[in-house]
Amino acid sequence: MSDQTITNDEFDKLVEQRISLGVKNLWYPILPSWGVKNTPVGITRLGEKIAVWRDNDGNVHAISDSCPHRGARMSLGINKGDKLACWYHGIEVDKDGMVVNVPAVDNCPMEHTKKNHSYPIQEIKGAIFAYFGDELNPEPVALELPDELVKEEYSSFLCTAIWKTSYRYAIDNVMDPMHGAYLHGDSHTMAWGEKKAKMRLEKTKNGWLFEKEGQTGMNFDWVEFGDTGTHWLRLAIPYQKKVGPGGNFAIIGFATPIDENTCQVYFWRVRKVEGWIKDLWHFMYKNRTEGRHWDVLEQDRVLLEALDPDARDNEFLYQHDLGVSRIRFEIAKAARVQVKALMDHKKQNVQVVLHSQSE
Ligand code: FES
Ligand SMILES: [Fe+2]
Repeated sequence: MSDQTITNDEFDKLVEQRISLGVKNLWYPILPSWGVKNTPVGITRLGEKIAVWRDNDGNVHAISDSCPHRGARMSLGINKGDKLACWYHGIEVDKDGMVVNVPAVDNCPMEHTKKNHSYPIQEIKGAIFAYFGDELNPEPVALELPDELVKEEYSSFLCTAIWKTSYRYAIDNVMDPMHGAYLHGDSHTMAWGEKKAKMRLEKTKNGWLFEKEGQTGMNFDWVEFGDTGTHWLRLAIPYQKKVGPGGNFAIIGFATPIDENTCQVYFWRVRKVEGWIKDLWHFMYKNRTEGRHWDVLEQDRVLLEALDPDARDNEFLYQHDLGVSRIRFEIAKAARVQVKALMDHKKQNVQVVLHSQSE
């Protein structure tokens, strides 16, 4: 038993690892839909190497990106519909991670055994979501997305980029509405409103709302964090009438860890528009505002990529950082619960083995 007991420091280290690569038992967007065609793609998300491909019916599949024979990348292999054939010696692994053919030898015992992890996949609004379960939670949880990505009356554009910063800083950044009036103070959407505010935090059905007291509809004035089988962020910024109809401009955001110091951000830019108004907005977005939105996002990227990885350890947070503290607390809590459950499970298994050995 003693070698199964870990110290508090070791436990904290495991928790920190889990936080820095992303908490599990959640869905994450892993690629925009346009990023996967017939040729398999090799990516890293949450520190895991994944081969992703699309079959002839357009369905996307994802398995761990390592051949069970000698570790060649399956993503370098050949797309055979619902399976990939390894480029090195031809082993075929299907979408469920099962080895279905070992062509170089007869009756290989590896055949018909599951050797690769297979990721549950959903493709929604132009993005591919994968479920990352831990050992205790391999079955996917229900994925619920905000109305803006689900209901017909909303229209959106997905904007995605890889940032050389931890997903933790990308999330902190969205949970920090005060930066709008400063970092983006020269932009067409965030040039107005007070540069000082008292912030308040409020519990919502699925998470937390963080907002400026006494100011709304002027700038980036509020943000919501939601935990509904995935971690999403929602905010709205005002939109000048001259750049198109539809009222406020909502953003639904996600930050998917790639590794400790890299992430992929997803921002759906959304407006409540239908019919010809939707067409008009699409036209104006493409012709007038998309470039300006990218400029704003670039300001975030430059700022965040220049943060030291350990900037977090030398901070002096103040009142308007309440949202940052809260989100960090929630993510750390989830990681602790997950690591503790795994430790408890391992301990139980050892007890069972020891018990049966002594009988
Ligand atoms: S390494 Fe894949 S078949 Fe040999
Ligand atoms: Fe920003």
